[in-house]
Formats: sequence, C-alpha cells, structure tokens
Amino acid sequence: MRKALEDLKNQAIEEIKKISNFSQLKDVKAKFLGRKGELTRILKGLGSLSKEERPIIGRIANEVKTFIEQLIEDKERELKEKEKREKLEAERLDVTLPGRRPLIGGFHPISLVATEIIEVFKGMGFHIAEGPEIETDYYNFEALNIPKDHPARDMQDTFYIKENVLLRTHTSPVQIRVMEKYKPPIRIIAPGKVYRRDFDISHTPMFHQIEGLLVDKRVTFSELKGTLEEFAQRIFGEATKVRFRPSYFPFTEPSAEMDIGCVICKGSGCRVCKGTGWLEILGCGMVDPEVFKAVGYDPEEIVGYAFGLGVERIAMLKYGIDDIRLFFENDLRFLTQFS
Ligand code: FA5
Ligand code: MG
Repeated sequence: MRKALEDLKNQAIEEIKKISNFSQLKDVKAKFLGRKGELTRILKGLGSLSKEERPIIGRIANEVKTFIEQLIEDKERELKEKEKREKLEAERLDVTLPGRRPLIGGFHPISLVATEIIEVFKGMGFHIAEGPEIETDYYNFEALNIPKDHPARDMQDTFYIKENVLLRTHTSPVQIRVMEKYKPPIRIIAPGKVYRRDFDISHTPMFHQIEGLLVDKRVTFSELKGTLEEFAQRIFGEATKVRFRPSYFPFTEPSAEMDIGCVICKGSGCRVCKGTGWLEILGCGMVDPEVFKAVGYDPEEIVGYAFGLGVERIAMLKYGIDDIRLFFENDLRFLTQFS
C-alpha cells in the first residue's frame, strides 16, 4: 500500500502539472480526492492491514492527501492569477491614443449676420431695444397709422391669435414702445423675429428684422440715406451698389425702399431677384407726424427717421444663397459651412 500511495502521489503531481483550466482542475480533484476517487479506494483497503501497520499507512495516506490538496490549491491560485492577467491584458488602455475631439456647434448664419449688422449700428451710436413677438393690434398697426382697411391687416397676411392680438408682422411696433417710454433724442435698433403668411424662395412665415429709429430736433432724409449707404458698404464692401426707390409706408413720409445689386447673378437677372438684378433689403423713411402724435410727441418740434431691414435677405446676399428656406431646414451640411 505504501507503494500504491507513493504512485498515487507521483501520478497526482504529473496530472496536476498539466492542468490548464478550472474544469480540468475540478476533474482531477474528483479523481484523486473525491468520494469515489483513488485515495478513497486505497484507504478502503486499510481494514485488511495488521494493527501495527494500520496507523503508519493511515498517516502516510493523510500526508499524501494533504500534499495533493496543497497541490490543487496552488494550481487553483495559479489559474486565478492567469485569468486575471489575461483579463487585464485584454482590457488594456492605450493612454497614448489621441483623444476624440468633442463636436462643437457654431452660430446659425442668421445669428452671424444679425450680430454683424448690430455691430455696425452700435458703432454708429445706436442702442439695442426689444419688444414682444406677440403684439396687440394697437402697436402693430393702429399707432403706426395703419388704417383699419389696410391690406396688411388682412387674415391673408397676419397670424392672429385672437381679435386684436397677433404675431407681430414687423419690428416697427418697438418704435412705439420706445417712444412711449423715452423722450427724444432717441437712437435705437430693435432686432427680432417677425411673422407673416408668406412662403416662397425669398419669403418665410417667420423671419428676422432689424428696426432702426432715430428721433431728434433736426434730422434729415439725406442723413438717413448716408447712414444706410454706409451700413451697406460695411456689410457688403466698399464697391456695393445700392439704390433707393420711392415707396409707401403709412408710418413714414416720405418713404423709400433700398435695394442692393444682386450678388447672386451680379445684376444680370436670376430667380432670386426675379430678373431685375436688384434685391430689396429694407424699407425706410421719415417718421410720419401721425406716429409722433400717437406717442405724445409734438410733430412741429420733433423729426426722425426709421428703417426696417430683413436679416435673411442680407444673409442671402452676403453668402450667395438662392433660397431663403435653406436657413430653416437645419441641414447640417448647410449649417456647418458657416461655423
Ligand atoms: C416693413 O416691414 C416695414 N416695417 C419696414 C419699415 C420700417 C419701413 C421702418 C419704414 C420704416 P416690408 O414689409 O417691406 O416693410 O419688410 C421689410 C423687409 O423685410 C423687406 O425689405 C425684406 O427684406 C424683409 N421681408 C419681408 N417679408 C419677408 C419674408 N416673408 N421673408 C423674409 N424676409 C422678408
Ligand atoms: Mg416691402
């Protein structure tokens, strides 16, 4: 039996050495130490031994058992170590890899152009004023001398919220709000969103205007022209062609519209300028005495000029964009060209 135990020990050493995973380890453990294992089988023979030999062989058998248990324990630790190493190896981070750059948004082209326009007028001494997008009939029409039967009041052109409450169709109501609040001299611009029932390649239902208002004791139409010409040249360059056309607005007298030579077709005529070579970018004029009366100014003493320009139109001309609707589709291929 001594020999059998010695052989068993050597066999265990050999087999445990070859183990390379946990399932093999489990099998080997069962084979040597399990209830139906080799060692148990040998120990069953103890009964046939003499009284003297029994304790000696019993002790040897115990030593072999402890020895094999130790081997298996060592092997288990070794396998665990190996597993951990492999895991660490697989999950290794390469800290020298370049990082992923976060995507950074840019300003919308309309914001870019509006900011540029605002900067030009700020440089000329204009302050910024604001008014609500939801307006009353009074501020949007009545106080601006727009009579009850004026076509602009038609449901065809204006989004009404309820009777006498509407989405402002222009930034001109800010003129009234500012003049009600302050005494002359006044020199403000009022940027913001306006709404109309319009939709084609040069009109959208929401667009941006920048209103201008200058009121003082002595202001002339040529000052208005000079200011707007200077503005156009700062935005589009020194060589920019502009023209003033007589026009009509109920809140200015005389009134004009300013056109800019179409930069898309260079004046030869295209679908944006409707073949004329010119594109209207703003309306302007001398403040009508009726408007001064509405805000309690004395028209005998006070004069002023006002203008209202379309930001999208200016952006189209500046960037050579032939369809205003592109600004509102939010296609990233379009927008990223400006950031
Ligand atoms: C006005 O809105 C006047 N309040 C402007 C004004 C202010 C005149 C102060 C005199 C004194 P008009 O409707 O023409 O005027 O619009 C002004 C500008 O807004 C136009 O020149 C054009 O550039 C732009 N615009 C008008 N409708 C649209 C639209 N649907 N989409 C985009 N831009 C538009
Ligand atoms: Mg117009």
